Amino acid sequence: MLNNGVSMPALGFGVFQSPPEETAAAVETALKVGYRHVDTAAAYGNERQVGEGIRRAGLDPAEVFLETKVWVSDYGYDQTLHAFEKATRKLGVDRLDLLILHQPAPDRFDRTIAAYRALEKLLADGRVRAIGVSNFRRPHLDELLAATTVVPAVNQIELHPYFSQPDVQRADAEHGILTQAWSPIGGITFYPGWGEERRSVLEDPAIGAIAAGHGRSPAQVMLRWQVQHGRSAIPKSTNPGRILENFSVFDFELTAEEMSRIDALDTGVRNGPDPDIAREVFEMVIPDA
Ligand code: A2P
Repeated sequence: MLNNGVSMPALGFGVFQSPPEETAAAVETALKVGYRHVDTAAAYGNERQVGEGIRRAGLDPAEVFLETKVWVSDYGYDQTLHAFEKATRKLGVDRLDLLILHQPAPDRFDRTIAAYRALEKLLADGRVRAIGVSNFRRPHLDELLAATTVVPAVNQIELHPYFSQPDVQRADAEHGILTQAWSPIGGITFYPGWGEERRSVLEDPAIGAIAAGHGRSPAQVMLRWQVQHGRSAIPKSTNPGRILENFSVFDFELTAEEMSRIDALDTGVRNGPDPDIAREVFEMVIPDA
């Protein structure tokens, strides 16, 4: 349950890095095995295929909780209102369940605030059911909250056992913001080409031991850890077997001691981009629908 009374499934389906040509099939599979929440983003370049996957699964889009993100190049009040139109047209819907800012823009925070005000307007007009942010740290949240009215419903952040950001989680909790985990099974610790020195969470011995004890996979243990902590998580996969595996985490429970053992794996080292550093990719243009 979000802070405005809207319900959102605990486990959503992620499509970051899902190539457009594989996305529709992956979304269709996910919906057939039971997911009812899909998270995408304008910047992923696959919103159209997400919409297609929902239609292929034979579902009314109203049955699926749809979440997408506004990219930085669309920040600003009018630009963000237009970004909503682009996203809904690509997805083939009139309304979104959750629209969030993809990340703070450190070099243009005034436009980040203006973008959020546009989200507030879309919420007031009933075009979106909830609004939020992503990759915000405590200072970004403080600045946003001081300048706007609606408390974000979610803050989607890099969160897996090797980087669990307890400080951001605390800031979220203090304000009634739901923490949503991206890369919830630590895919970012083993994405090819993201740095060879990274250690994959999937191969962590402590997680492996807990998984063996339950007859589960390490990915299932991590997702169970996420939902048992009351977080939202959006694992990505394009593989049908793993899509199902990742959804099968509601029929076992981790002990308090196992939960603490996983909590203790935090290294404090971020794998994704630092939200305080402006990047060239901010300029990427999101095409019209
Ligand atoms: P694939 O799409 O081939 O399944 P995250 O969401 O944490 O970023 O993780 C996504 C990455 O983890 C992708 O590389 C995905 O590859 C892989 N993956 C997804 N589910 C599993 C699983 N159950 N076991 C192992 N790898 C997985």
